Amino acid sequence: MFDPVLFALLVVSSLAVSVVLRQRRRSLPPGPKGLPIVGNIFDVPKEFEWLAYERWGKELRSDVIYVNLAGTPVIVVNSAEAAHELFEKKSSVYSDRVRLPMLNELVGCNWHFVFMGYGDDWRERRRVFHQFFHPNAAVAYRPRELKVARELLQRLLESPDDFMVHLRHMAGSLILGVAYGIDVQPKNDPYIATAETALHAMSMAGNAGAYLVDYIPLLKHVPSWFPGATFKRQAAEWKKATDAMVERPFEAVTKAMAEGKAHPSMILSLLNDLNEDEDKEHKETVFSGVAAAAYTGGSDTTVSALGSFFLAMLLYPDIQRKAQAEVDRVVGRDRLPEFSDEPSLPYVTAMVKEVLRWRPVTPLAVPHRLTSDDVYNGYHLPSGSIVVGNAWAILHDERMFPDPDRFLPERWLNEDGSLRTDMRDAELSAFGFGRRICPGRHLAAASVWIGMTSVLSIFNLEKARGADGNIIEPSGEYISGLVAYPKPFQCLFKPRSDLTAQLVHNGLQECD
Ligand code: HEM
Repeated sequence: MFDPVLFALLVVSSLAVSVVLRQRRRSLPPGPKGLPIVGNIFDVPKEFEWLAYERWGKELRSDVIYVNLAGTPVIVVNSAEAAHELFEKKSSVYSDRVRLPMLNELVGCNWHFVFMGYGDDWRERRRVFHQFFHPNAAVAYRPRELKVARELLQRLLESPDDFMVHLRHMAGSLILGVAYGIDVQPKNDPYIATAETALHAMSMAGNAGAYLVDYIPLLKHVPSWFPGATFKRQAAEWKKATDAMVERPFEAVTKAMAEGKAHPSMILSLLNDLNEDEDKEHKETVFSGVAAAAYTGGSDTTVSALGSFFLAMLLYPDIQRKAQAEVDRVVGRDRLPEFSDEPSLPYVTAMVKEVLRWRPVTPLAVPHRLTSDDVYNGYHLPSGSIVVGNAWAILHDERMFPDPDRFLPERWLNEDGSLRTDMRDAELSAFGFGRRICPGRHLAAASVWIGMTSVLSIFNLEKARGADGNIIEPSGEYISGLVAYPKPFQCLFKPRSDLTAQLVHNGLQECD
């Protein structure tokens, strides 16, 4: 029988349920409380933000958290599972970038596809890049990777104190060779110097939140002479440096081509393969931008990874000995390591993975941007949000990496000493996420591997001693930034035998 009271109750309760559900659907992920208007601007630390994001995630018991930066929604992704759900499974809406007027429009770095919005221009460049850096293509660069690693050994023998300078030279030399076929000068190379100036300019201009014009893009139209428009004059200076980095090595290749002297390189192949019916000017702009992107993407990052490796070897001498024992067993003491040794050196390979996990080079990768509303675990993720993959939190997740702050290559190995294959998602987060994942990672992993293995085979890395004879403990501290680096520390590179200099000399000759 029809009961109007019961019917009314049912209607009211189902309405209530749907309102609650809709509210739940609309409710944002948890986050720190924040203030009116400015939101969490004062909560987010200026340095090592990834640690605060990780802590909030734990306190709020959510692997996705919400931060409000003066009205700009920021979603932080703190677990490998959530990263997979969002960046991978829904990659078509999680692959855009944030607009950066200071860096892209005023300093003119819109040639760099790392900062490009998700669309055809980005796709065209990523495709060109991929052609030269996918796993099979990247194998072609091994001879050059081997050569720069052995040059690193030579330099460490000559002036060990300058090890960070040598790492920069090694990374620059590799990319300039691969991209442009340029053989750099042993000291004060002009191309490396130009690129270093440009990289500095880019890191200053790309400093999120440092320029008002990034919040109010209309300010870019303010004339340079206008009082307070220092940022425009500064941008013009920086533009000169970044333009030089894009143009000079490219022009060197076209000049060498005209003279019939160009060495094999990415740019040479691209220009040689250009069809007459293609828009030459457009293509040259694309090619020169892609090559410069390879330089900027690959230099600081490789330096940071190898810097962290040196630091780890000082802090964990037992692990250094263990890795050296493996190298000695497989390679012996009368030659230098080669890529063909890699399958027989799982401990060293595990150590490369551990370096990239222990001190992630890019702890927050590069922020993505969400281009449509989404829902995760019932939480509403608004379109236009900046989406930050917290690689640090993922790579320090105790569920997968117990005692995460400890440097322990064994965690990447099975009991029989072979490499584990079940931690791929977490491992990959060291190189970013989804469709934007680092396209240079195969070259990076190989060059870091041969760099580490070569250094281990030739040197014992030891802590320095002060004038009083006491050991100088490295602080183990880092410089915060898009790319995080160990703070300067001292490290001794002690040749492991009397044959070292001869071995390095022979090894270099084999590469010529
Ligand atoms: C240890 C070394 C390296 C690390 C840790 C690293 C890390 C990253 C990360 C985190 C991103 C952003 C991913 C994202 O948005 O989610 C990225 C992008 C990029 N990387 Fe790397 N990278 C390394 C080496 C290299 C090398 C050697 C090259 C060049 C040969 C390179 C070229 C690029 C480029 C061009 C992009 C832009 C991709 C895009 O936005 O579509 N990287 N890298």
